[in-house]
Amino acid sequence: MKTAEIFIDKNFKIADTDKRLFGSFIEHLGRAVYGGIWQPENPLSDENGFRRDVLELIREIHVPLVRYPGGNFVSGYHWEDGVGPKDRRPSKIELAWNVIESNQFGLNEFMAWCKEAQTEPMMAINLGTRGIEDAKNIMEYCNIGKGTYYSDLRRSHGIKDPYNIKLWCLGNEMDGPWQMGHKTADEYGRIAQEAGRIMRMIDPDIELVACGSSSLDMPTFGSWEETVLEHCYDQADYISLHTYYGNPEDNTPDFLASSVAMDDFIRSVISICDCVKAKKRSKKTINLSFDEWNVWYHSKEQDEKLQRWVQAPHQLEDIYNHEDALLVGSMLITLLKHADRVKIACLAQLVNVIAPIMTSDTGAWRQTTFYPYMHASVFGRASVLQTNVNVLTYESIYGDAPYLDAVAVEDEEKETLTLFAVSKDLSEPMEVTCDLRQYEGYEIVEHIELVNNDLKAVNTQKNPENVIPGHSSKSRIEDGKLITVLQPKSWNVIRLSHRRGLL
Ligand code: AHR
Repeated sequence: MKTAEIFIDKNFKIADTDKRLFGSFIEHLGRAVYGGIWQPENPLSDENGFRRDVLELIREIHVPLVRYPGGNFVSGYHWEDGVGPKDRRPSKIELAWNVIESNQFGLNEFMAWCKEAQTEPMMAINLGTRGIEDAKNIMEYCNIGKGTYYSDLRRSHGIKDPYNIKLWCLGNEMDGPWQMGHKTADEYGRIAQEAGRIMRMIDPDIELVACGSSSLDMPTFGSWEETVLEHCYDQADYISLHTYYGNPEDNTPDFLASSVAMDDFIRSVISICDCVKAKKRSKKTINLSFDEWNVWYHSKEQDEKLQRWVQAPHQLEDIYNHEDALLVGSMLITLLKHADRVKIACLAQLVNVIAPIMTSDTGAWRQTTFYPYMHASVFGRASVLQTNVNVLTYESIYGDAPYLDAVAVEDEEKETLTLFAVSKDLSEPMEVTCDLRQYEGYEIVEHIELVNNDLKAVNTQKNPENVIPGHSSKSRIEDGKLITVLQPKSWNVIRLSHRRGLL
């Protein structure tokens, strides 16, 4: 049996987690909106057309933030098409995903849905086929009270009070040649700076996310971030990162090592932000918005066969298995470990499209990846502790990968300590110890584990509980030490609390 030691110290805190680290994403893509969160003709929907069963699952995760409306979609979007009387909304061809967009769901439906989902919007603007003028107009529609053309237009659509949306993305993946209105770093940096400046004139309290690279593999990675930030450092609060991993070669150790690549990606972007900061002799720090991250590969072959110009097809419908849940767990641990700089992150996406929640016309169910995401969101809102793990590593395409990923979070006020851990050992249990002498009086509340012998096991509508978390009795505290045994290929949440809180 392998062994591992975890070292934490109350005095070494990385940062308090920003709850927006557990955000997600709804794009006008496939069945995310139509047939996902909104399906007026379905008896499972409420009077606004929002799927009640989906809302329930979203509230279970406590999703704090939802990015909208794209994604690639936003780069060709006219938001005005999706507001006002529905019978006057145009159907248009949608070139990001080669479909037809009916515009029956738009900005106001999304904002009403956010209320029901108990979440906040992260709104993206079109800097692909549109620009500064459009950025000004949508800000006026959303954040001005009344007495101007666009604020009065909103009021004429039945929305009296401004939304005061505070978080905005300045376009999407503008470095990608697939993007409508793709730009060079200089072109994008300039328009991001100017759009941001105009948006801030309307509402000085907004926060802005500039587009970073679409992935670490982009040929322009690094120089893109540097040039963009040279231009828009004054306006940007965050720079975005996007990444998706897959296991097409069926090499699980390499796949599970992808969090090493994610960690490298984050470290590199931090270095670039700080390099520009130093060059500008600026006091301002740019933080990171990891606003697209997930596993994505299962559906790619299928999607190539899709018919064009249909509405809401089954697109990007990855069916996630147990090993995907393990990697999602490791990616969450990686994000938490960088809580001092990664303030926003969005699991891409939320419903049907590469999502933890799936729907059919007769119900909704949780994919395997739902569980680590939900656990991190519910139990991860606290101070992240510097967590050092002493464990064997293995060689992977990304370099040496540890057999154990772990991070601890502490809530001093509530006197709780939570350890998230993924064992990447595929065959044997692992004994893990952690010195807890600084946590006298703490007891184990529960040890949740997601374990499955079959790495390829999935949940389906017919068998929705094939991969679900259970409880382990293998954790104990002895002589000030947490001693636990992690099952091979497992996601674990070990929750401790001072005994005062348990009475
Ligand atoms: O999330 C799916 C797509 O992935 C998004 O539209 C795009 O931004 C990224 O390439």
